[in-house]
Amino acid sequence: MAFTLRECIMISRNDPCWCGSGEKWKKCHYPKESAQASNVNLALQYKKQYGILIKTPEQIEGIRNASKLAASILREACNIAKEGVTTNQINDLVVKLHKEAGAIPAPLGYGHPPFPKATCTSLNEVICHGIPNDSPLKAGDFLNIDVTAILKGYYGDCSAMVAIGKIEPEKQRVMETSYECLMRSIAILKPGVFIYEIGDIIEAYAASQNCSVVDQFVGHGVGVKFHEAPQIPHHANSINIPLAPGMTFTIEPMINAGTRKAIIDPIDKWTARTADGRPSAQWEHTILITESGHEILTL
Ligand code: MF3
Ligand code: CO
Ligand code: CO
Repeated sequence: MAFTLRECIMISRNDPCWCGSGEKWKKCHYPKESAQASNVNLALQYKKQYGILIKTPEQIEGIRNASKLAASILREACNIAKEGVTTNQINDLVVKLHKEAGAIPAPLGYGHPPFPKATCTSLNEVICHGIPNDSPLKAGDFLNIDVTAILKGYYGDCSAMVAIGKIEPEKQRVMETSYECLMRSIAILKPGVFIYEIGDIIEAYAASQNCSVVDQFVGHGVGVKFHEAPQIPHHANSINIPLAPGMTFTIEPMINAGTRKAIIDPIDKWTARTADGRPSAQWEHTILITESGHEILTL
């Protein structure tokens, strides 16, 4: 039922509240723009302007659970990566751990041509999207393992490096640099920070370590789909979208010892290698932007 005009103008902010609390109306049931209403406005604006899905508290809870699971599967996968173990054995463990958790490995069957395995294992000069196989890991190798879990329809995406025995100094350098690039760029995240600031930090730190930043692959929105808007480039760029609470995305800098240029395998259409054959390293987290800053979901 609607109020009449007379009733509307009769009640003033300092009158006792209609609910009988004895408080002034303005302190009690006075209508204010609720946090929820302003989040709805923000979500509509981000969807319309940028195609970005701002997540609801319920979605965030789902993405948090999927991310925790992805992180724990990744930890176990990294733990068995030792000299003599094959990347197919790592893949088998990833499959088993998803099954046990009632989850689905997102890479399996993803894209065109469909990715053939449950996880990406990217060795030495492979930048990303390496396909597990039957060659045993050797001392001196290093590799990235990338796990994306789908749990109850929500996605969490993370990756990490493992060194097999003693690795050459150049590999050590790209491995540490990519980790620092990830953590330094995460450290600045809060509402209002522009997406291009992430690339600025990564590009500057990589250059200071005499490394290059891959520009053919990017981080991405994630959560209700594997790859959502926005793209999160790791190289210098001019994407002036401000971060907002409820955004979930990855940062996953791919850092090379030599050229930044990647070449995709013409046969499998997935494996991306450095054009000069020098080493490449990558670490990845899924991150939530909160009201006051950020939360790393894949810990
Ligand atoms: N997990 C990768 C990423 O970080 C994507 C892998 S696509 C796949 O975005 F098909 F290879 F799995
Ligand atoms: Co990713
Ligand atoms: Co990933």
